[in-house]
Amino acid sequence: YHRRMEGIDYTGEDVLIGPGSKELMFILQLVYYGDLVIPTPSWVSYAPQARIIGRHIRWVPTSLANDLRLSPEEIEKVCYDDPYRPRIIVINYPNNPSGSTYRIEELKAIAHTARKYRAILLSDEIYGELHHKGQHVSIARFYPEGTIISGGLSKWCGAGGWRLGTFVFPKSLHWLRDAMAAVASETYTSTSAPIQYAAVRAFQRDSEIQHYLYNCRRILRSLGKYLTRRLQRAGVSLPEPKGAFYLFPNFSAYREEMNRRGIYTSEEFCNRLLEDTGVAILPGHAFGRPPEELSGRLAYVDFDGARALTAIADYPPGKSVDLEFLKIYCPKVVRAV
Ligand SMILES: Cc1ncc(COP(=O)(O)O)c(C=O)c1O
Repeated sequence: YHRRMEGIDYTGEDVLIGPGSKELMFILQLVYYGDLVIPTPSWVSYAPQARIIGRHIRWVPTSLANDLRLSPEEIEKVCYDDPYRPRIIVINYPNNPSGSTYRIEELKAIAHTARKYRAILLSDEIYGELHHKGQHVSIARFYPEGTIISGGLSKWCGAGGWRLGTFVFPKSLHWLRDAMAAVASETYTSTSAPIQYAAVRAFQRDSEIQHYLYNCRRILRSLGKYLTRRLQRAGVSLPEPKGAFYLFPNFSAYREEMNRRGIYTSEEFCNRLLEDTGVAILPGHAFGRPPEELSGRLAYVDFDGARALTAIADYPPGKSVDLEFLKIYCPKVVRAV
């Protein structure tokens, strides 16, 4: 699968599977004595895993102007003062929580900086197949010797509960694979066999699966775009989603009004939103943003996917999904925004 997708000469020997990529990330942090370098905002589990194990966390600032993404300049700032310090830099794209991704030139620049400091690059590409235009490219192409690609079935197969995650290592990092396999052997032992057989089928990625992915992307792309426009028109700032199924809106334009209602933090904001409207989003604070930033992560998948996929089968190929479709098949999400 990865040989076909990335064009890198991987073999089965380079792959470690586990009960979810989350477990593999934990074991990586356990066996590798290095700092964890992650952008703010970042997916909710990287930092707590580092804290449980006792690793030092370096948060890398991002800006809305750069769609809340890692920049080589900021990575450089973290590494410059102590260039030989061992580090795991996490890059996650398409991104949870923002939906952003990177262009090839940007990936090359980040790869260059990671190589300069000999950092382990953990490339969390679990949403790769959900790039809205199907154009995901792994950063492993540009820093193959130091990159671990993390993936799994949870997102593009809609099978989060099945628990199968993958790490793909270059030959130069087989020593890390072996250290992780030793821990795996003493903890989860193996991924359950029936799930492994399901994964074999999924990773064949034949025409039926490609068709399914094409339609998933068409729906997510139109929905993400529509919701973003709606929020932007209301004065909310957020990066344009390019993949996955998340938005990371910042409601700072409403700070004064919220303050008047006794809302000062993202947590208070999300609690009040839930109480008053029934809309559940996660506070930006959970993603490493300052508590008083009025941001949150919105997941736009609260709809019957099977029903939407059946309906889109009648759509002409290439035609983008219109608002009527979204209102009929994704009504809760449209209404919530
Ligand atoms: C960015 C990111 N990485 C990894 C995971 C973990 O996925 P799993 O452990 O199911 O493979 C998630 C799940 O929410 C995620 O959003």
